[in-house]
Amino acid sequence: MFRFGVDYYPEHWPESRWERDAQLMQEAGFNTVRLAEFAWSRLEPAPGHFDFDWLDRAIAILQARGIQVVLGTPTASPPPWVMAMHPDAYRVPESGLPVTYGNRRGYCPTHDGYRARSRLVTQAMATHYAAHPAVIGWQTDNEFGDRCYCAHCCAAFQAWLQKKYGALDTLNAAWGTIFWSHVYTAWTQIPAPLATAAPFGDGSHNPGLALDYYRFMSDCYVAFQHEQVEILRKACPVHFITHNLMGIGYDRLNYFDLAADLDFVSWDNYRRMQWTFQPTVPPSEAALAHTAMRGLKHKNFWVMEQQAGSGGWQIVSVAPRPGELQLWAYQSIAHGADAIIFFRWRTARFGTEQYWHGLLEHDGRTSRRYAEIKQMGAEIARVGAQIAGSEVRAEVAMLLDYDSRFAFQIQANNPAFHYTAHVHDIYQAFHARNVAVDIISAQDDFSRYKLLIAPAHYVLTEQTAAAITRFAQQGGAVVVTPRTGVKDETNTIVDVPLPGYLAKLCGIEVEEYDSLPAGVSQPLAFTNADIDITEAPHAKIWCDVVRAVDAQVVARYTQEYYADSPAITLNAFGAGHAVYVATFGDAALYSALAGWLLKLAEVEAMAASPAGVECCVRWQGGRRLLFVLNHSTEEQHVVLPETMLNLLTGETTPLSAVELRPRQVMILAAPSGDGR
Ligand code: GAL
Repeated sequence: MFRFGVDYYPEHWPESRWERDAQLMQEAGFNTVRLAEFAWSRLEPAPGHFDFDWLDRAIAILQARGIQVVLGTPTASPPPWVMAMHPDAYRVPESGLPVTYGNRRGYCPTHDGYRARSRLVTQAMATHYAAHPAVIGWQTDNEFGDRCYCAHCCAAFQAWLQKKYGALDTLNAAWGTIFWSHVYTAWTQIPAPLATAAPFGDGSHNPGLALDYYRFMSDCYVAFQHEQVEILRKACPVHFITHNLMGIGYDRLNYFDLAADLDFVSWDNYRRMQWTFQPTVPPSEAALAHTAMRGLKHKNFWVMEQQAGSGGWQIVSVAPRPGELQLWAYQSIAHGADAIIFFRWRTARFGTEQYWHGLLEHDGRTSRRYAEIKQMGAEIARVGAQIAGSEVRAEVAMLLDYDSRFAFQIQANNPAFHYTAHVHDIYQAFHARNVAVDIISAQDDFSRYKLLIAPAHYVLTEQTAAAITRFAQQGGAVVVTPRTGVKDETNTIVDVPLPGYLAKLCGIEVEEYDSLPAGVSQPLAFTNADIDITEAPHAKIWCDVVRAVDAQVVARYTQEYYADSPAITLNAFGAGHAVYVATFGDAALYSALAGWLLKLAEVEAMAASPAGVECCVRWQGGRRLLFVLNHSTEEQHVVLPETMLNLLTGETTPLSAVELRPRQVMILAAPSGDGR
């Protein structure tokens, strides 16, 4: 079943309004509502005094309209009495100054008292709703994250280290604490890496200590969530458990670990927000985020919060243009969403998010946005069953590595380098060609792919290097980019030439490197005739100075003392290939490389489309559902890969090409139903 619905806060509105809300939701085609993730003060107004009556009444009204419910555990925002009971449970950010009451996510994830309260409220909700026929599943907390550096966390870190290293000698050797005489002689001497303890901020701590702290913090949230998961699984074995994650941009938690405990991943997809006062998150960035969320469990996902209007806390974002909300929601579906839950129902009249717009206006009127989503609801009623459960299939994979992300937070290497921006730069070149990509972890099975990209895989274990090497050996094509293989698991630099354990696979050695100043770039000269170049590719940010040992040179630098030395190499390895791209290039470079790599790996695009039009495929067995999304404000003409029917309109004439209005979406499928 395709889930279509909204995030609803009945506790914000008079009860006399609930019936009207439910009626409008039903008319919009909604079958699912998320409730209660910020309702702790109504669910447990005083310690141990639970009140579910109001929520029961709200659910009953929804249930009568055929709407089912996902409940959130309310632990992201404790009522004041919880924090008054535990004044030492406030989270201490890196600055060392504890937060005060007044926002949300203000708790320390390791605090025993807070954890106990969170278990109690979770247990009470789980027990009360386990057998409720309208409740289908749970969201744990809300958008886990934010590191804490308090005394409780520091003590827990010391215990975590003791478990990991066993002996202080081992830890001292792993971190290289002889540097600046940091040799620890008692576990209790080890600090949390507060910014205040290091005059130059975050990155000045011992890199081994800092990386372990970031891993430890991620583990704390995973453990905190696990306590809720255990309670919910036991009390509500038929319900699903998910969490609303924050896409690829969020980098404080290892999302692979957080997702491991969940039945499926959900995430919150905002395209236009107050903080980034900009026209919109570009389609390729949203596509990458969906792809990354799908890759966490190799499964379709939910969008638990899909934008329903202008975002805004202090500043109001540009209003979504007619058609945009639908376009963004359909893009989520095209990349693997099996549920779209809009955030939020009615725009709040009070509280921090007064300007975060929902489908209804402040005064309860339905809006133009409601009308647009209601129209989508009618379409979903027609095609939802065909879409739900169909899968995205990719032959290209990119590794996403949280150890590397954490390590780059400690040492950025170059101020212009951003790990996810680099991942996106490469991804975008494939996205522009309508080639499906999976974002996967280094622990995944690579054998289902033809092309594997390891972007800036900074912290590289021998096991991962061996798996990548085996993939090439067996016929795959591998792409490696700079700063790969620099560090071992302890965040120590390897004592072999870079790219470390992958040097042999790549058939090169990095002799030295040049970290470029802002704005400096240089054109590359290509020596490989198979590469189509439409716009001159440039090197920027970083140039590895490479010696080709076994590899052929594909492109060379043209400037500086390393002019004429290799900038891109190709090495035949076993039955496959390894490409080393020695610089962080511009869009023209990745565009040129993508075309060539697809030929090298024998991967085909799903469809051809003009710029601004995205094509995605979801497979239902052998039947392909082609999503054509016109992100542009122009009319567009798209030639279809085969004759297809327009599923959204239900027209029966097979089409070989389609015309799309600005922002229009089409979902098409072959009439025969047996795909290609
Ligand atoms: C999300 C969050 C929601 C709401 C929304 C708009 O990050 O999960 O509760 O705050 O942003 O600000």
